[in-house]
Parts: sequence; structure tokens; C-alpha cells
Amino acid sequence: MSNSKKPVPPSGAAGAAGTVSTTGTGAANTKNPIDTRNPANPAASPAYAAAQTGRINESAAYIRERLGGAAPEIAVVLGSGLGGFADQLQNAVVIPYRDIPHFPRSTAPGHKGNIVVGEFTQNRGAPSQLRNAPPQNHGARILCMQGRFHLYEGYTMSEATYHIRVMRALGVKKLILTNASGGMEPMWQAGELMLILDHINFMGQNPLVGPNLGEFGPRFPDMTYAYDPQMRDVARRAASELSIRLREGVYVGFTGPSYETPAEIRMFRALGASAVGMSTVPETIVANHCGIKVCGISCITNLAAGILDQPLTEGEVIETAGRSGPVFESLIQRTVELLSADESMGQ
Ligand code: HPA
Repeated sequence: MSNSKKPVPPSGAAGAAGTVSTTGTGAANTKNPIDTRNPANPAASPAYAAAQTGRINESAAYIRERLGGAAPEIAVVLGSGLGGFADQLQNAVVIPYRDIPHFPRSTAPGHKGNIVVGEFTQNRGAPSQLRNAPPQNHGARILCMQGRFHLYEGYTMSEATYHIRVMRALGVKKLILTNASGGMEPMWQAGELMLILDHINFMGQNPLVGPNLGEFGPRFPDMTYAYDPQMRDVARRAASELSIRLREGVYVGFTGPSYETPAEIRMFRALGASAVGMSTVPETIVANHCGIKVCGISCITNLAAGILDQPLTEGEVIETAGRSGPVFESLIQRTVELLSADESMGQ
């Protein structure tokens, strides 16, 4: 992968938009000569954290250079079939993932693999369902990711969350994670949207396992408000202004790529989840670790296995996500506008 950029000099703790210090992370265990971490796993070595922080800073430096300055403070990750949202942005700078040093590539269907930074400068025309849409503020600038990295693509947890730390190094403060998911509430319909209240990590792994990247966050981060209550309120307000029905529930993350069995879906329901999907959970954990506030919105692209007596297909997921696109995009746009109004008031 191309990496002609000069290494970014460390510049203090995570906090300032810019770089994240590579010092003081995963220091070699000089007191105890017997290092019990698995020597066969390079990601468990003490030098890993410093090297990883350096790579993250190089990715961020490249993006900042392409933007010709600071990145926006609000970012959106667009899930399967939802990436069209970014094509509507004005004055857009498009940065393919393949151009960014160390950045993973999107291989999932419906994931274009670009970072798009741009503004809402025009009312994109409210879809017919949204005739009462309020006038929209113009000028809110955001960073969109058209596609993410999943465990089912073969990525490790660290790779699947790499972009979140790059966002942190760029100074992103608020993140909207979107996804396609299977609804487990029998009364819900495909195409509806769900505000994520909390999650259950059923992926069998945690992205923070390994040496702690101490410049990003603590060893044991709190997850009580993993989905930020204030951002949730903003999303509710946006939905209500636009007369969009926004379901609410707990999202359970499963690695896939096989869809769940009906027995697994019964188990998830018994555990208190309302939607299941193959993403979002690792990103939310890493965002919380590094102090980025998260709002999660799921597009319920299908009812989960066994809820209806019919098999699931990827085509159905992409098709429903595309059909919900206009409503979904209006909700995200309005949420971003309200968030950026809050940002400019310093909240
Ligand atoms: N299960 C898991 N992931 C999904 C589903 C599902 O039913 N639909 C969309 N993503």
C-alpha cells in the first residue's frame, strides 16, 4: 500500500484535532522479562500500539491534506445500500479508501469505499412522505464513509474499527453509525428505521483486546451511554419534525456472514434485542473508547430469520435499503443539521 507520507510527529494526547501521540503506549515490559503475551500474535506485542497509532496518524494526515484543512466534527458511516446519501453532498471532496495509507478496502456489497466530505447546500427535495418537512439549514459539513469493514470480510476487529480512530485523529466528535439490520419485532415492517438504544456484543470478540492504545482512551472504558442520550434526543426530534416513524430498540451484533437461524433469533429476542446485524458494535466500542459520541440508526431491511416463513436474501436487504433511502437520508440530514447547530452553540 502506498505510504510516501512522512510520519506525523506526535503532538500530545488525543483531544486536539491533528495527531495522537505515539509515545507512552504499550511500553516494553522491561521490569518483567517474561512477557506472557502471545509472541505469535504481533498485535499482542508492546510495540504494536505505538506502531498502530503512527499508522492512524499517517492516514489522518493524508485525509487532512486532501481536504486542504480541518475535517468536519460530525461523521456518518453509511451501511449496506445506504451510501447514496453521500452522493448528494455539495462541494464534495471524494477520497477513495484505496488512496489512504494503511486504510482497509470495502469489499461488502453496496459499500462504495469512499470518504466523502461535503455540505448540504440545497434542499434535496423532500420525498412525498415528507411533505411537511421543515425548512432545512444549509451549510452543515460532514464526513461520510461510503462503506465500512466487517469481520465477515475477513478483517480483524482492529481493522474493522481502524477508521474510527482515524476519525478521532481528524477531530471528529460526533458519529452517526448507520446499518442494515434484521428486525425481530413481529409487528415491525421492512423499510422502517430504528434508533439504537444499546447493543449486545454477540461477536465473540472485543476490538479493545490487546495492548491499550492509551493515547486514545482508557483500558476499561465505560459503556453505560454507548449511544449518546443527547444525540438520541436529536435524532428523535429530527424524526418527529419530518413525521418519520422511528422505532427504538437494542441492536445485537453477530459476525455473519450466514444469516442467523430462527433458534438464534429466538435467543436474541429473549435477550432483549430488537434488531440484528453484522456491524456497528465494534465501531461503537472503539468510538466510546476514544471519546467520540455515537448515534446509531438501523434500517430494518427485513424481518429476521423465522419471523416470517421465508428465506432471507442479500438482494432483499440491498433493495429495501435503497427503497428506504429517501426517508433515511432526510432523517440523517436533519439530524446532522440539528447536531451542527448544537455544535456551533458549543454543546
Ligand atoms: N441479519 C443480520 N444482518 C442483517 C440482516 C439480518 O437479518 N438484515 C440485514 N443485515
